[in-house]
Amino acid sequence: MRIAVVGLGHIGLPLAVQYAGRGHEVTGADINPSIVEALGAGRSPHLDEQALVDRVPGLVAAGRLRATTDTGEAVRGAEVVVVIVPVVVDAAREIDFGPIDAATADIGAALQRGTLVIYETTLPVGTTRNRFGPMLARASGLALDDDFFLAFSPERVLVGRVFLDLRRYPKIVGGTSEASTARAVEFYRAVLDESAEVRAVTNAETAEMTKLAETTYRDVNIALANEYARYSATRGIDVLEVIGAANSQPYSHIHLPGIAVGGHCIPVYPRLYLWNDPAATVVASARAANAAMPAYAVDLLAAAVGDRFVLRDTSGQQTLGGGRFLDLRAPARRRRPRFSSATSCASRSATAWRSTALASASVRPRHTGCWDRTGRERRPPSP
Ligand SMILES: NC(=O)c1ccc[n+]([C@@H]2O[C@H](COP(=O)([O-])OP(=O)(O)OC[C@H]3O[C@@H](n4cnc5c(N)ncnc54)[C@H](O)[C@@H]3O)[C@@H](O)[C@H]2O)c1
Repeated sequence: MRIAVVGLGHIGLPLAVQYAGRGHEVTGADINPSIVEALGAGRSPHLDEQALVDRVPGLVAAGRLRATTDTGEAVRGAEVVVVIVPVVVDAAREIDFGPIDAATADIGAALQRGTLVIYETTLPVGTTRNRFGPMLARASGLALDDDFFLAFSPERVLVGRVFLDLRRYPKIVGGTSEASTARAVEFYRAVLDESAEVRAVTNAETAEMTKLAETTYRDVNIALANEYARYSATRGIDVLEVIGAANSQPYSHIHLPGIAVGGHCIPVYPRLYLWNDPAATVVASARAANAAMPAYAVDLLAAAVGDRFVLRDTSGQQTLGGGRFLDLRAPARRRRPRFSSATSCASRSATAWRSTALASASVRPRHTGCWDRTGRERRPPSP
């Protein structure tokens, strides 16, 4: 099968490699020329996953994987187009469809009769059918569910272990018609490993909602854990002991509290959900509760060790925002200290928070330490 993957990012490239590895002919399209150049030279532009680094050279050499900056070229020769270009929430918390709209316009202009287009990017409910369906139809002059087919299938994998997750998480698939769903199911059976479950749901909206439901659930759950943590701290109760004890009952699945909810998924997808359902007070207040945690955590640390420390994240990728003492821009060479030293700074002041209570934060505990403003590692004060 000839497949186009539009967006060769940290998820798109592993998908392209998975499909090519199953014997298909894959052309990836990306607007970033350095990604296309790296693939042209037979190496992976992303180093997050060893399997990617190992497999790209052989697949490129065998002619099963190639890349282009011309999305139209990739789409014109494809029977199936998979779109995995980000939708982000901007500083004003508005959804930015700009990149995926641009990709959709390029796909529409080159779309051939009979092609199946599948969106994998997490989307607000209804976006596949009501936004992209008409855009593709207008640009191509083809009729949806007649001349071309359209489906949504959320990508549920984690960066760094994409191939493993593709094998073990059911692939949820919903089309804009029964014919589109059936074609998308057939596609995933052909490109995923034989052991992977492909699960059809009623329609594209159900598939879109599935991804928002599973991720928003985690945000709400963490917000509840954070409320428990804040209250427990006022009562001298160790919230981790409480959660461990509560979860010994099989109906309790309380997550860990943390200084923020991180990554580019869990803090974002509740906003995609709220876009359609602004009256969802539980979701909105959970988001607000989690967004307030960085300032709360900074206050805890300040109360424990005073104003003269800096909490750094060596990844240099993330900002928690608003914290008086949070500096997340430390260079990678500062990798050695562990977050536990920073959290023990806080926990020594008899707060009920322990290292792991803060360790579920977005600042990746392995890469974080506690320094004074001159950059010297600060040891936790004696109890
Ligand atoms: N990263 C994750 O852990 C993860 C996990 C599950 C699902 N997802 C979903 O996957 C989506 C993509 O995530 P990612 O981590 O691969 O993002 P990424 O930023 O690594 O990659 C996106 C790629 O799309 C390209 N792009 C942007 N506009 C384009 C256009 N108009 N045409 C062609 N290419 C274009 C960019 O150059 C980039 O290479 C996310 O928005 C999310 O919905 C991500």
